[in-house]
Amino acid sequence: MISRDVVDEILDRTNIEDLVSGYVSLKRAGSNLKGLCPFHSEKSPSFTVYPRDNSFYCFGCGIGGNAITFVRQIEHMDYPDAVVYLGKRAGITVVKDAADDAYNAKKIDKSRFYKMNVDAAKYFHSCLFAKDPAAQNALRYFTEARGLSIATIRHFGLGFAPDSFDAFGNHMRSLGYSYDELVEGFLCGKSERGKYYDAFRNRVMFPIIDVSGNVIAFGGRVMDDSKPKYKNSSDTPVFKKLRNLFALNYARHTCSENLILCEGYMDVIALHAAGFTNAVATLGTAITSDQARLMSRYTKRVIITYDADEAGQKAAVRAMGMLSEVGLEVSVLKIPDAKDPDEFIKKFGKDKFRLLIENSRSKFEYNMERILSKYNLDAQQERINALKELVEFISTFYSEVERDVYIQAVSKQLNIPFAALKNDVSSQVKKRQRRFLKEENQKAIRQTQGFSDKVNPDFAKAPSVAKNEETVIGLLSLFENHQKKVFEGKLLTENDFYTDLNRRIFIYLRDCYESGIAPNLDENFSTEEVGRVTKMKLARMDLTENGDAVLEEAIASLKSSMQKKSAEGTSTMDALTSLIERMRNSTDN
Ligand code: GTP
Ligand code: MN
Repeated sequence: MISRDVVDEILDRTNIEDLVSGYVSLKRAGSNLKGLCPFHSEKSPSFTVYPRDNSFYCFGCGIGGNAITFVRQIEHMDYPDAVVYLGKRAGITVVKDAADDAYNAKKIDKSRFYKMNVDAAKYFHSCLFAKDPAAQNALRYFTEARGLSIATIRHFGLGFAPDSFDAFGNHMRSLGYSYDELVEGFLCGKSERGKYYDAFRNRVMFPIIDVSGNVIAFGGRVMDDSKPKYKNSSDTPVFKKLRNLFALNYARHTCSENLILCEGYMDVIALHAAGFTNAVATLGTAITSDQARLMSRYTKRVIITYDADEAGQKAAVRAMGMLSEVGLEVSVLKIPDAKDPDEFIKKFGKDKFRLLIENSRSKFEYNMERILSKYNLDAQQERINALKELVEFISTFYSEVERDVYIQAVSKQLNIPFAALKNDVSSQVKKRQRRFLKEENQKAIRQTQGFSDKVNPDFAKAPSVAKNEETVIGLLSLFENHQKKVFEGKLLTENDFYTDLNRRIFIYLRDCYESGIAPNLDENFSTEEVGRVTKMKLARMDLTENGDAVLEEAIASLKSSMQKKSAEGTSTMDALTSLIERMRNSTDN
């Protein structure tokens, strides 16, 4: 067994796009990448890489999974060797322990890193209050140009990195840290000629602190218009920029009702200084699902307040999706007459900002406004188009009560009778459901038309049951809120599964959930099986709005088909398939 910490660390440091690019020539296709599959021969590319969740899948041959699955398959390695191989690539030594034949990695001493970062933060902070002109200039940047009080500067531990290539490094080495450690912590760099230098120079410094209060990284900003404006620490053994949030260490105490999400460090600092201590920001990147989940641990509702420009608004729409996906309520606050929250508070004061928060628009309101603003509502045809789009949008909400509230709003706004709108929405909802079922059925038929399914040999005996099992497994692997519901509520047991493969996967996922570790399929399943699970996930990636309904329906069907105790004859589909199966067997003989 290789320790999970080590495996996670290796996966974190492995960029699937880079890894796969070593074997396959990839072309961008939207947010994904496509290429010719290295595992079967094909003329048009069906091999897809999903940078969003570091996975890949080939729609032609069904091979898919993460970086470990890829290496197992392409290098013909077993699981431990694939991990060692990726470890080498990522600069992590995974050593085989001769005594118990286990694998262990070089232990990462996290506490030493935390201490090093605290010492660095102390150094930068003290430099800000030094007596030389450069330090005084930096302090003035914070107090005058950015309007911060000394109390706020101290609260956030802000600092200054002097304009020197070795002042910081020399100081840290006098405290006993080696250049190797400083480089690993992204505080120093090493030139091609082997010379060490301070990573942050002539920048004001923002320490980044995790929820346990450890200093884990830094952001540094120039004090003029030079580029790059910010320099942020890269990932280190103790810092994952995609999994942490700036100021969550403070915000966690006051955000149980709602949390304000902004784009920049300075926005957060200005908000905290104005009394909005429930503000956080991502660390210079777009929001990730890990960060969304992190927020959902501390709050129920997130108010997004991104920059007023188009890029900011686009990012807000994306963030809205990420946050609803983990079950958070979301609203969006648009900043009028200023480029970001920091500037708004400076110009108009905190009471005006509080008003903005009170009037922040729900996901529905925000989208309604977005849709209405696209059309000239005085022109009849445009009015109809706007209505169509609104009806379509409302129909994506699962709850009927919620839909009715929104129908009411549109009915008022556009002066259309409620009943008429309700009619349109209902038929749109039905259409969506029909479309979904039809697609599912077609997929099932396509699957059974092929030769017998080697990965899940039981599939063909009861395709509609197996399909429901796949729905459950796909949704459980994608969305954590479903895991909680199904596993803690014991909505399903292994006895509700008909196919052996899906039953084994279900048991594995439940074991992982109960012991609090993230699933690592490669350790327990063949690459073909991992590929199948990947497919189950991909097919249900978009079920964020009505995932609950789909899951409930699948569970109910599984329960009832198992009650009948007979997998055959539960539907026309099954009857058809067993017929095909029997015919095939008779021709074989
Ligand atoms: P100022 O008010 O100009 O200090 O910046 P801001 O806090 O308003 O940040 P902005 O909206 O410009 O950018 C948001 C976040 O993106 C910043 O807090 C940084 O984390 C990150 N960022 C901005 N510019 C850069 C850059 O040049 N390089 C990197 N790596 N990150 C940046
Ligand atoms: Mn700003």
